[in-house]
Amino acid sequence: MARKKIIAGNWKMNMTPSQAVELVNTLKPLVVNDEVDVVFCVPAIDIIPAMEAARGTNIQIGAENMYYEEKGAFTGEIAPDMLTDVGVKYVIIGHSERREYFAETDETVNRKVLKAFEHGITPIICCGESLTQREQGITIDWIRQQIKIAFLNVTAEQAASAVIAYEPIWAIGTGKVATTEQAQEVCKAIRDCIAEIYDQTTAEAIRIQYGGSVSASSAPELFAQPDIDGGLVGGASLKPDFGAIVNYK
Ligand code: PGA
Repeated sequence: MARKKIIAGNWKMNMTPSQAVELVNTLKPLVVNDEVDVVFCVPAIDIIPAMEAARGTNIQIGAENMYYEEKGAFTGEIAPDMLTDVGVKYVIIGHSERREYFAETDETVNRKVLKAFEHGITPIICCGESLTQREQGITIDWIRQQIKIAFLNVTAEQAASAVIAYEPIWAIGTGKVATTEQAQEVCKAIRDCIAEIYDQTTAEAIRIQYGGSVSASSAPELFAQPDIDGGLVGGASLKPDFGAIVNYK
């Protein structure tokens, strides 16, 4: 069965709740496309107003982060139940900005992934290499390690429903999109790694996005690659361009 594409916006730390409502209202007529899953991952405080604004549309509202404990003395964190209680079905886990600025590691990513599955939330698991690592020729080794640790103790059934976002760090927010060949090569390596950990069926089912300066002009070629099942989009998800990205064909 063909994999359904998933195109997700990552708003990062942008948009107040009232701006979020305005943006959803602007984008909702532009992102209509039943062939694609459309997700807006928004700041925690924007989740509820964005959901209300998106009600009755094809837009799903996701979170940008989640903690791996159930509840308690973890000031400032968001628990999985808080997300599911309002109907969140997707959460970005282990974005490179969280790894860089908030000390997330492959181990905390794995704990969050397990917790998300435990609560029936689909994790969008991020991986990606730095420019130095690419120049050192260790991209594939690095990504395989990130994937292997992220999926520790994850069942094949859970893995099949996961989303992985391959985001080369040097391509994020820089306007420097990876070439189609680079993006396809790594997404294929990720799928092969999933096949090694699990089996071919799981590898065929899992969805792998490319992220990093995706634009309306780069999306069509990227999303046409055999192992690229959509995108995780930062900057361009805050603009009407996101409509063109969702309707990339
Ligand atoms: P960008 O961000 O599209 O602005 O490069 C992508 C991301 O960080 O998810």
